[in-house]
Amino acid sequence: MRFGINTLDDVEVKGKTVLCRVDINQPVDKAAGKLKDTTRIEACIPTLRELSDKGAKLVLMAHQGSDIEYKNFYTTEPHAKELARFLGREVKFIDDVCGPAAREAIKALKSGEILLLDNVRFVSEEQTLFETKLLLSHEEQAKTLLVRKLAPLGDIYVCDAFAAAHRDQPSLCGFEELLPSAMGRLFEEEFCVISGLMEKPDRPCVFVLGGAKINDAFLMMTTVLSGGIADTVLTGGLVGEVLLWADGKDIGEEARAFIKKEGYENLVDTGKELLTKYREKIVMPGDFAVVQDGKRVEYSLGTIPPGALILDIGSESAKKYQEAIRSAKTVFVNGPMGVFEEAPTEAGTKMVWEALGDTKAYTVIGGGDSITATKKYNKTGLINYICTGGGALIRFLTGEELPVVKALRHGSKIKAKK
Ligand code: 3PG
Repeated sequence: MRFGINTLDDVEVKGKTVLCRVDINQPVDKAAGKLKDTTRIEACIPTLRELSDKGAKLVLMAHQGSDIEYKNFYTTEPHAKELARFLGREVKFIDDVCGPAAREAIKALKSGEILLLDNVRFVSEEQTLFETKLLLSHEEQAKTLLVRKLAPLGDIYVCDAFAAAHRDQPSLCGFEELLPSAMGRLFEEEFCVISGLMEKPDRPCVFVLGGAKINDAFLMMTTVLSGGIADTVLTGGLVGEVLLWADGKDIGEEARAFIKKEGYENLVDTGKELLTKYREKIVMPGDFAVVQDGKRVEYSLGTIPPGALILDIGSESAKKYQEAIRSAKTVFVNGPMGVFEEAPTEAGTKMVWEALGDTKAYTVIGGGDSITATKKYNKTGLINYICTGGGALIRFLTGEELPVVKALRHGSKIKAKK
């Protein structure tokens, strides 16, 4: 048991039906019916292999796509193929979530066999909009269709979905009311690594925050600065631009219009508060790159010409960030410095990732774009820890107990039937 939660060492699974929630939500090429990335699939393989090797009848529940952000639900059928490829063993798939066909398929499983159910978010009670509108208690979640239909077929519930641990939904928090529960190996690793990092990071501890989803970055910045976790926060992407605006600096009309269009103008006030309290710890870029006639052109702050939109930090800022990363003992990164997908505007992100690859600091990255950048710049083996979670990690860093952690603590107290 760790942090009050059972690990796979605490549960006997041989011959038992294990209902296991994984997060294998990945970008999908719908036209080809294929996954564009398999990072999360690969990350949960150790748990699945261990449970199957130990003789569990393994039932996997997973979601693909979000109702709230991008309305792109998709079947989990391609995921079954990828899971089978990485496991080197058969992974059955059923195009049903908890109806009669799914239940028959579960009952037919033999020891060691693995079955993936279809996208749990095809069931309305499992959706994020349902969660945000109604927020059922965990007791109430135990009475939803999914849990009512599947829990009686299961002996043990395992959650390996750290990346979805901030979601309060039946497949994540309902089963722990009824079944003895444990966290999988990936959940255990992510939870313990990040907890340790937040408790006592080696110093100096540097946070690099960028990207386009900046509500999250501001939330994280507030937490790590007010909690005394970060010694320095290096900012890029829209995070840096909003802070500069908050500081009364001229980032150009285009950048201001873009920030307004994206609905982030309200963060300018948050930026002012952060700068008032923690100015000496926050580093903002002093030069930028824009694209003119298809080419990268750099400008220092205050000289960005009308009509030019900032798309990357400039090379002077990137060099300064490299030095800070190389002299840190812990570095945590969430979000790129600019539009690194395009050649003229990738240099800032590339330089930061180069420093992440050769610093002696303990390096942690989280979030989808940061994982993509790590792969693009071939630094995967050089980063100490790559967290599969984006939203979950950010919520964890705010210090609040994640719903799934709370549920797993509850389910860890339920004793297995003999
Ligand atoms: C993620 O991609 O961050 C997780 O899979 C959670 O997905 P969600 O934000 O759609 O709940």
